[in-house]
Amino acid sequence: MSRPLVIAVDGPAAAGKGTLAKALAAKLGLPYLDTGLLYRAVARRMVNADLDPAGDASAQAQALQPEDLARTDLRVPEIDRGASLVAAQPAVRAALLDRQRVFATQTGAVVDGRDIGTVVFPDADVKFFITASPRTRALRRHHQVHGEAPLVEADLEAAVAEIVARDSRDSSRDTAPLVQAADAVLIETDDLSAEQVLEKACEEVLRRQVRS
Ligand code: CDP
Ligand code: CDP
Repeated sequence: MSRPLVIAVDGPAAAGKGTLAKALAAKLGLPYLDTGLLYRAVARRMVNADLDPAGDASAQAQALQPEDLARTDLRVPEIDRGASLVAAQPAVRAALLDRQRVFATQTGAVVDGRDIGTVVFPDADVKFFITASPRTRALRRHHQVHGEAPLVEADLEAAVAEIVARDSRDSSRDTAPLVQAADAVLIETDDLSAEQVLEKACEEVLRRQVRS
């Protein structure tokens, strides 16, 4: 029996990974796994236990329960930052690795994160690296959270600085840094709608399937 299809979607914050991965999963009838949620849930456990997310978070990662992932307070600025602090810890990453692999091994999946194509599923059938400029990404995150509300230049600059700091932490860590896999397809999305990104990705998946 052939192995179920695994598609990796990596890239920096607010590039459109989740939007693409969810749409691809729906189109292909595959489950979708948002691995960022795992790191966010570990950070939330640390914060709620009055622990600094920069401190040893391995016990919280090992204790992670499915209900931790269903919390509604995982996408707030404090946890954006906290997630990238716990994610830099090798013991945290090791504790979460099997959960990610088990999820996709039986059924296949579209999986989004930072190290999916490099570490979690280095043999993924198709790998995408989704990116956009920090300014585009900061604006997208703002509108995602605040709708049409305008953003003054000073606040946009602060949001860009936050995103650049998180990307830099994610890219410079020793374990599983954010980096484009050698065999990943790069999609720069500054000038593309979510629909156009999906179209490009679908063309690529189709090309691979025709070839194999
Ligand atoms: O998962 P990631 O943090 O990479 O980003 P996302 O949550 O998928 O996308 C962030 C925001 O950008 C969402 O509101 C998307 O609708 C929007 N987006 C966009 O405007 N244009 C795209 N090509 C992709 C996403
Ligand atoms: O949606 P957004 O891109 O803003 O963040 P996310 O995908 O939810 O990831 C939050 C944080 O978790 C990232 O900044 C990374 O530090 C970490 N992460 C990781 O290290 N490896 C992954 N596979 C996924 C997320």
